[in-house]
Amino acid sequence: MFALAAQDPEVARAIAAERRRLVDEIVLIASENYASTAVMEATGSVMTNKYAEGYPGRRYYAGCENVDIVERLAIERAKQLFGAEHANVQPHSGSQANMAAYFALLKPGDRIMGMRLDQGGHLTHGAKINFSGKIYEFSHYGVDPETEMIDYGDVARIAREFKPDLIVAGATAYPRTIDFPRFRQIADEVGARLMVDMAHIAGLIAGGAHPSPVPYADIVTTTTHKTLRGPRGAMALCRTEHARKLDNAVFPNMQGGPMEHVIAAKAVAFGEAQKPEFAAYARAVVSNASALAAALAAGGLRIVSGGTDNHLMLVDVRPLKMTGKQAEEALVAAGIVVNKNSIPNDPEPPMVTSGIRLGTPAITTRGMAASDMETVAGFILEGLRAAGDAGRLGIVKGRVRNFASAFPAPGVTS
Ligand SMILES: Cc1ncc(COP(=O)(O)O)c(C=O)c1O
Repeated sequence: MFALAAQDPEVARAIAAERRRLVDEIVLIASENYASTAVMEATGSVMTNKYAEGYPGRRYYAGCENVDIVERLAIERAKQLFGAEHANVQPHSGSQANMAAYFALLKPGDRIMGMRLDQGGHLTHGAKINFSGKIYEFSHYGVDPETEMIDYGDVARIAREFKPDLIVAGATAYPRTIDFPRFRQIADEVGARLMVDMAHIAGLIAGGAHPSPVPYADIVTTTTHKTLRGPRGAMALCRTEHARKLDNAVFPNMQGGPMEHVIAAKAVAFGEAQKPEFAAYARAVVSNASALAAALAAGGLRIVSGGTDNHLMLVDVRPLKMTGKQAEEALVAAGIVVNKNSIPNDPEPPMVTSGIRLGTPAITTRGMAASDMETVAGFILEGLRAAGDAGRLGIVKGRVRNFASAFPAPGVTS
């Protein structure tokens, strides 16, 4: 960082401030994590300089012998980690992995069924403002209004009526275990393919803390930077029968040169995820989420669907007579980073919402345990109750900073 500070102090200052923020704050954004120093070193390595269009052993550029090594390692480790027949580790982001999966399995205009955006789905699962909703014809399933869980009977009913070419399972804000065999059964019944977007839960699956979709899905996509704790990026897994189509859908169809520095970091992260410590981490993420949800419920908040089976929870903040936006603002002022989030059948618009989404992947990486969740919940409740009172919020922020500093932030402080 010495060269950067000397050459470009403005950028260096912002990065230094970000390091401080990552240490001082309690990060509860469900899609964020702390990548290890080894992952960061690979991401910041000389492999950023290399053009490598194509795949290992089949490149359009010379000088690829070293990047071929890391890409082969990333592919082999991804296959082992998830028990997949084929892996493409080149997608730059989760959205692009999903785009590649659609291109591999469908033609423009084909029919897809995905989860509603306002009930937990992702933009790439058919939002009108996203490429997916523009290129394909979508129909959506949601959650049962009473249980706030996926109603598989309803998924089957919509599938029979809509006759999709592809069903997408997976979500951005769904706190419950997803039943992949049931999705496969529904897809088979209506003659559809099944794609699973496991972006949020990939680390839990790698660590054995959530059932795997790999035996059931035609293509599985994931980001690599959430629970999987790798660099910002993505990958797609599939059966051998789809391998060629998937590879062609990524390059040359959608991307040019792969980011080999990021692929090197993916290989490092997959290596980390193969270790027994990672399975312990995945289990701790889930037990921390349950403990946090229970403590918040005991404090008077309503947990959507009554709890969580995975790394995240949706919290209805209306019992405190506030909106999700107000809750997010109050918590940020208290040094606790969360995002406002629609809850099922939310009466408020998406920029306001009635809920917040909280996740435990990042705080678990910092070593917080289930016994710390009462303290974290206490800070959250105090922060929410102090909304609009800058003085009280400042006091909570100081206590949050003190508490957080006891937990090393990998890749930042160690
Ligand atoms: C389920 C799911 N799929 C895809 C994505 C998109 O990933 P990216 O932001 O890397 O494009 C996200 C991101 O939050 C996600 O939650």
